[in-house]
Amino acid sequence: MPLKSKKNASMLAVPQHVAIIMDGNGRWAKKRFLPRIAGHRAGVSAVRKVVEACATRNISVLTLFAFSSENWRRPKAEVGLLMDLFISALEKETRVLHKNNVQLHVIGDLSAFSDKLQKKITEAEDLTSKNTGLTLNIAANYGGRWDITQAVRKVAQEINRGVYTVEKVCEKAIEQHLAFHGIPDPDLFIRTGGEQRISNFMLWQLAYSEFYFTELNWPDFDDVAFTRAIDSFQNRERRFGQTSEQVQSA
Ligand code: IPE
Ligand code: IPE
Ligand code: MG
Repeated sequence: MPLKSKKNASMLAVPQHVAIIMDGNGRWAKKRFLPRIAGHRAGVSAVRKVVEACATRNISVLTLFAFSSENWRRPKAEVGLLMDLFISALEKETRVLHKNNVQLHVIGDLSAFSDKLQKKITEAEDLTSKNTGLTLNIAANYGGRWDITQAVRKVAQEINRGVYTVEKVCEKAIEQHLAFHGIPDPDLFIRTGGEQRISNFMLWQLAYSEFYFTELNWPDFDDVAFTRAIDSFQNRERRFGQTSEQVQSA
């Protein structure tokens, strides 16, 4: 049977939410005998391209992992340059995002960032808050374990306050306190740079996402590469625990 006739409607649909670990900036730079920061700068251009690609395809949500809770372990100089780049990227890109109807959110423990960076983030989020196009989430000082831990802490506080009892704690009780609350789970997860690991990204939300890994370093990830990832997604059968027969007949 040709593969096409086996596809069902959900397989042909575009993913609603795409989440990406943008990895390989350092290796991209190293290959070119450039400093690592040059790779991070080239990475910002790749972000611009993938945002456009999502908007063109009517994808609702794009989440990009920009800085993990573990990335503070990098040399101080690189961390400092990354923070500067974050500020300058917000300064340069926010107006363009706004013009393109993109709603921006920065998700993570922002309290660790400088006052200046926190202010830029708030300004960018406020400016774009009423936009109705693509939702762009930037995960910064984000870690999946941090997210689950802070959510569980809030659940415990609610129990303390007598809002509900321990017996009433369910997935929904935890989920409503997660930083990504209200956003549908990623349908498609992409990691560039060749590593096949999650690196503490969206541990809760990736439970049923389709995974796609590419050897391309993030600055080389373009519309052609993105199309390949979408094609791969559209050729998979998502079963969510059911049998293939059940999914086919639905
Ligand atoms: C991803 O690229 C960007 C950040 C983690 C900030 P890397 O900087 O991890 O690049 P590699 O993995 O060293 O090539
Ligand atoms: C993951 O990349 C974090 C981001 C892309 C922001 P890393 O390069 O930090 O991941 P590991 O440490 O190699 O797993
Ligand atoms: Mg890396």
